[in-house]
Amino acid sequence: MRVLVVGSGGREHALAWRLARSESVSEPFAAPGNSGTALVGTNLPVSDTDVDGIVAAAIAHDIGLVVIGPETPLAMGLSDRLAAAGITAFGPSRAAARLESSKSFARSVLDAAGVPGPDYRVFQSVSGALNYVDSHDRPVVVKADGLAAGKGVALCANREQAHIAIRACMEDRIFGDAGATVVVEDWLHGPEVSVFGFADGENLSAVTAATDYKRIGEGGTGPNTGGMGSYGPPHFWNDELAEQIRQEYMLPVIRELANRNAPYRGALYCGLMLTDAGPRVLEFNCRFGDPETQVVMPQLLSDPVDVMLACATGSLHDVAPVRWSQRPAVAVVMVSDGYPGPYQTGFPIAGLDDDQTDDVIVFHAGAQLADDGSNAVLTAGGRVLACVGLGDTVDEARNRAYRRIDGISFEGAYHRPDIATEAAVAMAGAQESAC
Ligand code: GLY
Repeated sequence: MRVLVVGSGGREHALAWRLARSESVSEPFAAPGNSGTALVGTNLPVSDTDVDGIVAAAIAHDIGLVVIGPETPLAMGLSDRLAAAGITAFGPSRAAARLESSKSFARSVLDAAGVPGPDYRVFQSVSGALNYVDSHDRPVVVKADGLAAGKGVALCANREQAHIAIRACMEDRIFGDAGATVVVEDWLHGPEVSVFGFADGENLSAVTAATDYKRIGEGGTGPNTGGMGSYGPPHFWNDELAEQIRQEYMLPVIRELANRNAPYRGALYCGLMLTDAGPRVLEFNCRFGDPETQVVMPQLLSDPVDVMLACATGSLHDVAPVRWSQRPAVAVVMVSDGYPGPYQTGFPIAGLDDDQTDDVIVFHAGAQLADDGSNAVLTAGGRVLACVGLGDTVDEARNRAYRRIDGISFEGAYHRPDIATEAAVAMAGAQESAC
């Protein structure tokens, strides 16, 4: 079967890499892909938000399965358009993807499903939101309702910060219409975990988990990023917790969406905080996480094509149960100088030609082949690549990831030195909790 991965980040390289290892896959394509997806398949010059272009490319290349990586094309209805064209797609419909594209919708689904999250209120007026935080005696998190490229969440330690965040969202519209409505939630504390499973509209596979590190600096300091690293399974993860999250937090949401005639088919990502009062849902996303995918795809033991086709066709019960390896994996992200602020691109990346092994993998993200036919790889984004190590212990996995990073260089390269170290593991959550 020919498969097409939609997207161009590290998550999409990890998906294409895992699909390319499936015996069912004759040829993986990516649109638009990056220098990493070009190593495992063929890139097509179509933007991931060009819905018509993706549908046309899938038809032209006789694609049997389209795997949609990022949230934006899902929110635009790419899955629905592919289905209407008779092409099987892994990724929820636009209606089901509202779980991520509208935070207020997600909260209403969680309430109806009886799934616990932080106390919250939804506001469409600035004055309502400001009055609420003025009368509230706890720190809050202000969230733009719509998609804001991972930047629409402000942790507010006091009322002044909450006022600034509300006005920036609702008056200044720094996230455009995505900030016309805000959700104001209580700020919770505890370790944070990203939980992933495959859903077919009614059923949910076994789930797995990883944590990510969002702040740019060592010790969880500095601005938020798209993710500086990840490791999994987390030290607190066990079968009992996995089953609790699956049964009590994720399946009720799948059932509620089915009741609303929006069956959820695709990767389901539940972002939780493990508080003293029990797990609380911070967010649901309609896709795999980035950089968590770079950790969990090497741990997926089942055939991804079988599982993804079963999700798309509502038949998870007909395939073997999904199996995840518990072998620790650590991903360390290399970024461009200046990221998450302005940065330059176009620098050659040296050291990529070493052989990959089953225990050391480099996933490209903001990296592209030079267009002079030289096969040189150039930086093309803020998060440039992730070095992933697997091992019998987290220490072994981490050492492998960092050893690989030492062999790669480009101008201005930076990475956090403390991903999955004992100190960073102990603090995961409290300082890093910005969804
Ligand atoms: N790692 C966070 C996300 O993918 O949204």
